[in-house]
Amino acid sequence: MLSLVSTSPEETFRLGAQVGQLLLPGDVLNLNGSLGAGKTLLVKGIGTSLNIPQDFITSPTFTLINEYDGTYPLYHFDVYRLEHGSELEDIGYEEYYYGSGITVVEWGNLFPNYLPDDRLDIVIERLGEQERKIEMTGIGTRGTQIVNELRRSGTCTY
Ligand SMILES: Nc1ncnc2c1ncn2[C@@H]1O[C@H](COP(=O)(O)OP(=O)(O)O)[C@@H](O)[C@H]1O
Ligand SMILES: [Mg+2]
Repeated sequence: MLSLVSTSPEETFRLGAQVGQLLLPGDVLNLNGSLGAGKTLLVKGIGTSLNIPQDFITSPTFTLINEYDGTYPLYHFDVYRLEHGSELEDIGYEEYYYGSGITVVEWGNLFPNYLPDDRLDIVIERLGEQERKIEMTGIGTRGTQIVNELRRSGTCTY
């Protein structure tokens, strides 16, 4: 696990950009943390590394999924408002998760049965007005690889 503390929105954005640089088609990120933690901001950072302007990226809370055209497609889910995970089946979530784009799921832990075995788990915890603890855990071969690459690239750890 990789754990760090962000002390500003800019820092969280930059971390997202760092993560975004390492991502490849088929990667899935499971992003959790209370409302206002900084999940969507982190996705904006990821998007910037995929050449998606940050203003394009908005919260998919009401749309369930937003799709962006970048270096690779970015599929941005927010499953907060779903009542049943089976609604993900209705929209064919597997086509996204196992497709040729990068998928980020906000609130993925609400429906753990609908997460792929291989993924990067990120938890953001609000410590103060501007302080956020960010923990990243690689699940499966690819998830582990991403965390190792982040560590190697000097993403600070505690
Ligand atoms: N260190 C920080 N990291 C991320 N967001 C921060 C930080 N400090 C303050 N914020 C603010 O918290 C809010 C996070 O909003 P958002 O990314 O939409 O959260 P979420 O998607 O988790 O509900 C933004 O208004 C942002 O400016
Ligand atoms: Mg959000």
